[in-house]
Order: sequence, then C-alpha cells, then structure tokens
Amino acid sequence: MTPHARIPGHRFLHSPGPTRVPDEVMDAMRRQPMDLADPRLDRVIQACEAGLKALLQTSADVFMYACNGHGAWEAVIANLLAPGQQVLITGTGHFSESWAVQAEAMGAKVLRTPWREGYPIDVPAIEAALRADTTHAIVAVFVVHTDTASGMTSDPVRIRQALDAAAHPALLVVDVVASLGAAPFAMDALRANVVLGASQKGLMVPPGLAFVAVDSAAMKVAAANPLPRFYWDWARRQSPLSYRKFCGTPPQSLLFGLEAALGLIFHEGAEQVIARHRMIARAVHAAVEAWSEGGALSLFVREPAARSVSVTTVAVAAGIDPEALRSVAREQFQVAIAGGLGPLAGRTFRIGHLGDMNPAMILGCLAGVEAAMRVQGISIGSGGVQHAVAALAGGVTETR
Ligand SMILES: Cc1ncc(COP(=O)(O)O)c(C=O)c1O
Repeated sequence: MTPHARIPGHRFLHSPGPTRVPDEVMDAMRRQPMDLADPRLDRVIQACEAGLKALLQTSADVFMYACNGHGAWEAVIANLLAPGQQVLITGTGHFSESWAVQAEAMGAKVLRTPWREGYPIDVPAIEAALRADTTHAIVAVFVVHTDTASGMTSDPVRIRQALDAAAHPALLVVDVVASLGAAPFAMDALRANVVLGASQKGLMVPPGLAFVAVDSAAMKVAAANPLPRFYWDWARRQSPLSYRKFCGTPPQSLLFGLEAALGLIFHEGAEQVIARHRMIARAVHAAVEAWSEGGALSLFVREPAARSVSVTTVAVAAGIDPEALRSVAREQFQVAIAGGLGPLAGRTFRIGHLGDMNPAMILGCLAGVEAAMRVQGISIGSGGVQHAVAALAGGVTETR
C-alpha cells in the first residue's frame, strides 16, 4: 500500500500526544484570522487565559507562547535561572532528564534526584537534597507530574511536603504537559509557583501552543534574574495588549481551537473528564495485565497508584521488537501507538489514552494492539480485551 492510499474508516491515534482533535476544535480553527485590533481576538485570548486558570485552579498569571512543550521549558529556565544557578530536577525518566539537559545547555547547574525504573519520584531524596542545601542555593525544584515516557504520575503534594519539611524557599515548578485535562491538579492548593503545559495532549488542540502559569513569588525571582531574554520574558508579557502578550502576532488558529477545547472540557465537567480518564486507564491496565500472563509483557510502572491515566507504558521481554509491533499495529490495524523513549527505547511501547477518548475507542485500540501482537507471534495471555470490557462495565476505580 502506498503511504497516500485511502484507508477506509477511522484511524486510531493512541500516541500520548499529539492526540485526536475533536471536530468542534477543528471547526473552531477553520475561522479566518482577525486583524490584530479586533476586540473579538482579545476576547478569545481572555477566554483562553480564564479557561486555563480555571482548569489549573489558580489565580496566577498565565502566559501563552507559540511553541511546543520544550519552548515552555525554555521559558521557565530563561526566567528563573541565571547561568551557574542551581535547580533540583526530580528524576521521573526521559522527560525529567530532557529538561535537565536543556537547563544545563542554558548554563544552569542541575542537581538530580535518582530515578528508579518503574517507581515514582524519590521524595526522601528530594527532602535530603533540600536539607543539605543550607545556603539555599537551589532556586527551584522541577517536577514532571506525568512522565510520558515512563507512564508514571507522581504525587506533587508529597513534593510540596518535602519542600515544607526542609523549610526550603525554592520555587516549586510543575510540568503538567501530559497530565492537564486528565489527572487532578490544583496549582494554588499545591502552592506550586510555576506550572507549564502544552496544547497537544489532554487539551485536545494541535501542537504549537504552550503556556506557563506564574505566581507572584516566581515573578519576583524572574525580575531579579539578570539573564538577558526577550521572547520568553514574563515581565514583557504581563500586558493588557494582546500583541504584547504574545510578543508579536498571536497564533490565532490555535487560540480559537483552545477556546473551543476548554469549552468542551467545562461542558463535560472537569471532574467528569478526570473520572473518564480514570475509567479508560483502568481498562488499559486490565488488558495489559491479562496479556502479561503470557510472560512476554508487563506494566512498566510497578506501583498501581502511580500508573498514569494518560498513557500506559508496557515493558516487553528481550527479543521482542516494539517498533515492529508498532508498524504492524499502524499499517495493518490502523492503530497508532508510541514507542519507548530514551533508556526505554526498544524495551517498551506505549498506549496513549488521553484527551478526546471514549470507551469504544479504547476497546478498538486494545483489540488492534492485541491483533498486532498475535501477528507478531508475541506470547500473550488470553482475554485482554474482555478484561478491558469488564473494567469499563465495572466503572471507575482508584488510579491517580
Ligand atoms: C511531560 C512532557 N513534558 C514536556 C514535553 C515536551 O513537549 P514537546 O514535545 O511539545 O516539546 C513532553 C512531550 O511529550 C512531555 O510529555
């Protein structure tokens, strides 16, 4: 089949971002651009800011950027860390390490807490590192709420408790790129100082728009940071003028899409969105557990409570090629899943289940993956899809 041949029916996108874009969001993005003085454009931007604040449960300022998640990471580093200043990055896997490498490339001194494969953030190690920093040289603690490569969600409340227990003034910075709109998160209750996210996952908008929510303590740290910066600078974006808010022309189509997507989330109800993600994740975990009986697969995250509701990382036994499995799933069964990243490349595959997702869609995905595993001759236990059906029929259970 040539790459451009028409494939009948619906293609299942089960990457953990970009995710499927709802029709309502696609339709909203079809609007023609507006002139930059049009008050309707200001209203769209204000609606996006208000919606993000409501979803994050914060009164902090929200700055949006025409960029991806790496851009939001860069915004945080550029505003908070002058070269030579210290940041503590809590090990969660590929994404904490990527952020650490980016901070180092920008001149920051990075301290890392160790990451144990399959387990959530090492909170005692965070507290120990903060206690050892008697001069309070560490400016911020960076946390990836859901590490999309590990498929692991850590409890940010425990990290806030570690900061409090050590009586350390470092800022708490949380990446919710893969968790917002899927897992519970409340910025102000957590006393997080900075939170960053991107459009292409739980927010159900195409890639290209990211945001940072910044509280007054973080704004003060940024104001005292002498590192030269312009596009990323938070103070420059704290303006009532839409053109200044975006340091130039706003990415209008993505904003129209975000306004629509936030409308969908609040129409369904943020609590219900979270409950739906829990239910669907539970079905995926049930299927993988049943498949694992064959001895060739296992759920990568060992602690059930730390398994993400957005993405499930499946470890494969030696000799199984997850990339070949992905190809068969995509080309023969129209199910796009994700591969392993960083140290997990070649050892895992991932099923994304966040955003515009319903029970029938996840059952279709799981059936396609199961069929691809059979084609590949992978030894799997029987009844994976039936277990998923049973989990969906049984309702919601406790997964973070
Ligand atoms: C948790 C997390 N943070 C940051 C990023 C980086 O985002 P982007 O690929 O949009 O640059 C990703 C990407 O998947 C992610 O999952």
